[in-house]
Amino acid sequence: MIFFISLGAFLYLDKLSSMHPTILAIESSCDDTAAAVICQGKIVSNVVATQSVHAAYGGVVPELASRAHQQHIVPTVDRALQEAQVTPDMLHAVAFTQGPGLLGSLLVGTSFAKSMAWALGIPLVGVHHMQAHVLANFIESPVPAAFPLLCLNVSGGHTQLVLAQNYLDMQVLGQTQDDAMGEAFDKIGKCMGLPYPAGPHIDRYAQQGDPHRFAFPRTHMPQLDFSFSGIKTAFLYLLQKHTAHDPDFVAKHRDDLCASIQATLIDMVLHKLERAVNQTGVSTIALAGGVAANSGLRQRLAQRAQEQGWAVFVPALPYCTDNAAMVAMAAHHRYLAGDFCGLDAMPKPRWPLEEVRLS
Ligand code: KG4
Ligand code: ZN
Repeated sequence: MIFFISLGAFLYLDKLSSMHPTILAIESSCDDTAAAVICQGKIVSNVVATQSVHAAYGGVVPELASRAHQQHIVPTVDRALQEAQVTPDMLHAVAFTQGPGLLGSLLVGTSFAKSMAWALGIPLVGVHHMQAHVLANFIESPVPAAFPLLCLNVSGGHTQLVLAQNYLDMQVLGQTQDDAMGEAFDKIGKCMGLPYPAGPHIDRYAQQGDPHRFAFPRTHMPQLDFSFSGIKTAFLYLLQKHTAHDPDFVAKHRDDLCASIQATLIDMVLHKLERAVNQTGVSTIALAGGVAANSGLRQRLAQRAQEQGWAVFVPALPYCTDNAAMVAMAAHHRYLAGDFCGLDAMPKPRWPLEEVRLS
C-alpha cells in the first residue's frame, strides 16, 4: 500500500504542469451515477445514469444504490469519454465526489477514481458535493457570476445558505436543523401518493393550482437556519383531517395542495435569503441543488430579485439535480489550486463544507 501511494505521488509530478487540464469527473454520492469531462474549464461531456430501482420503495435504498452504481459506473465513464472524444491518456486528473453522501455509493466512485488515477499515473481530486452544486452556476452562465456570491443550496439531503468568496472558499451561514427542502417535497408527495422523487411532480401539479387555497403554519428558526419537519407534519395532519370525511380529498384537491405547500416552502427559503442579503450586504445571488429545478422557486426568486435589485444566477436544469459536470467544474478549480488527494483518500459521508476551505 505504501508502495502504491509513493509510486502514485511520483507519477503525479509528471502531469501536474497543465494550466489547461482535461479532467474526468465521477459523481456517485446518492442514486445517480454520473461522469463528465471538462477540458480547459469547459464541459465537453456530461452523462447521468439515473437509478429507477428506488421508485418502488418511495425513497433511496442505500444497498440498491451501491449495487446500481457498481453496474453503471463503467458504461457511464466510457460514454463520457467517448462523447468528449477524449482517450484516457489525454487526462490530466480524475476527480470524484468524496462526500457528503451515502457511504456505499461514495465508495464505488471513490474506488473507481482511485484505480483509474493510479493506473494512468495522474492526480486525484476529491470534490465536496455541495461545493460542486454551487459551482454548477459557472457551467453555462452567459454572464459569469461574480464573487462574493450568496447561494441558496437546496437539494434532497441539504438546505443551506452559502457565502462563496471565490470558487473554493465557501462558508455555510445557515442550514436546516432537520429535513432538507427536497426531502420535505418528497415526503409530502409520498403522503399524497406521488412517486419518488415527488419534487418534480409537485412542481408540475402546482402550476395548475391555487397557492392560497390551503394555509400551513411555518416554523420560525433563529438566524439563518431552516426547519421543514413541522410543515411536513402540518401537511400530514391536514390530509388526515380531511380524508376522514372525504376519502377522495387528495384526488379532488391535488393541484391546490401542491400549489399551496410549494408556495409556503418557497416563502420560507426566500425569507431567509432576504435576511442573509441584509446581514451580509451581498446581493449577488445564486440557486443550486435539485430543488433549484423547481419552476415556482425560479420564478419567485427572479421576481424578488427584480424588486430588490439583486443579480441572480440559476443553473440550467441538467446542472441542478445531481450530475458530474458540476463535480468537473469544482475539480477544475481545485486542480488549478494544486489541491489533490492521495490514493489513501476515503469517502466522507459527513463532510462539513467549511473543512474544504483552502487556507
Ligand atoms: O441535488 P439532488 O439531485 O440530490 C441530492 O444531492 O440530494 O436533489 C434531489 C432533490 C429531490 O428531493 C427532488 O425531489 C428535488 O431535488 N427536486 C425537485 C425538483 N426537481 C428535483 N424539487 C422540487 N421541484 C423540482 N422541479
Ligand atoms: Zn446533490
